[in-house]
Amino acid sequence: MKVSIIGGGGRVGSNAAFALQCAGIVSEIHILDANEKMAAGEALDLLHGTSIAGDQKIYAGNYDRCSDADMIVITAGLRRKPDESRLDLINRNVSLFKQILDSLKGAGLKNDAIIFVVSNPVDVLTRLAIEHLKRDPSKVIGLGTQLDTARFRSLIASETKLPPTQVKALILGEHGDSMVPIWSTATVGGIPLIKLADFNGTAQQRIFERTKKSGAEAIELKGGAGWAVALSIAEVIHPIALNQPAVLPISSQLTGEYGIRNTCFSVPTLVGRAGVIKRHEIELWPREASGLTASAKALDVTFAQVQK
Ligand code: LAC
Repeated sequence: MKVSIIGGGGRVGSNAAFALQCAGIVSEIHILDANEKMAAGEALDLLHGTSIAGDQKIYAGNYDRCSDADMIVITAGLRRKPDESRLDLINRNVSLFKQILDSLKGAGLKNDAIIFVVSNPVDVLTRLAIEHLKRDPSKVIGLGTQLDTARFRSLIASETKLPPTQVKALILGEHGDSMVPIWSTATVGGIPLIKLADFNGTAQQRIFERTKKSGAEAIELKGGAGWAVALSIAEVIHPIALNQPAVLPISSQLTGEYGIRNTCFSVPTLVGRAGVIKRHEIELWPREASGLTASAKALDVTFAQVQK
């Protein structure tokens, strides 16, 4: 599988390339960036490691080289300021994003190529990509709450002193302020998380609030997230590259699930080489279900304001 990373000269894109190199699940990584020198530098640095990490082709190149890519990962975009919401970014990022989509159209993509949007506000840009590219919605996905879910699980594990990989808990909805923690299905090692002694509502609230602010915390401390978002991106590419479908909280366009239509945001989604295979609609607690409804509404309001 060939993956093109647009924005591969930036922190998120280059860290994602490194995660893919370490994971060894794709055969070809193409790095593209408006800053061509950075793209060349990141590609060269990664190339230097191929003798250790594995026999992947890694190179920098322009949009023409996207034409035979199986997956296009778009990480390019302007970064949030610490006090700026992801939705505030929309006005600054939309025109840049549309230029990227037009360049991809110009290059001509494979019919079965998967477009994977990471740039923010990710849910809005995922929907914009579907409309602007007039592409089969099952081939367009967004990172959505995949990263928030990773953060949530890791922070729950830190708090409870339990193994992070055994914590299974979801964040659904918007990758942003209206994200929804799903405690009703959360488990650790098969045990319902809410039944753990000492794991009370105050602890739950504290963990969720920190999860929600994690992006801003990373911006404040180191200028922005890199490693965990890179691993989250690789986790989504894995089932697609190997066609070993996995259920992940990625963003895609809903078609009536949870009473929501047209909005792109995260629900548990079976994803594989064909893209979105199935979105799962599960019974949620009333406050979780109403949280999702409110999250979709917030995104719809923003989408309506986007200059398309
Ligand atoms: C974050 C950015 C990637 O949450 O949205 O860190």
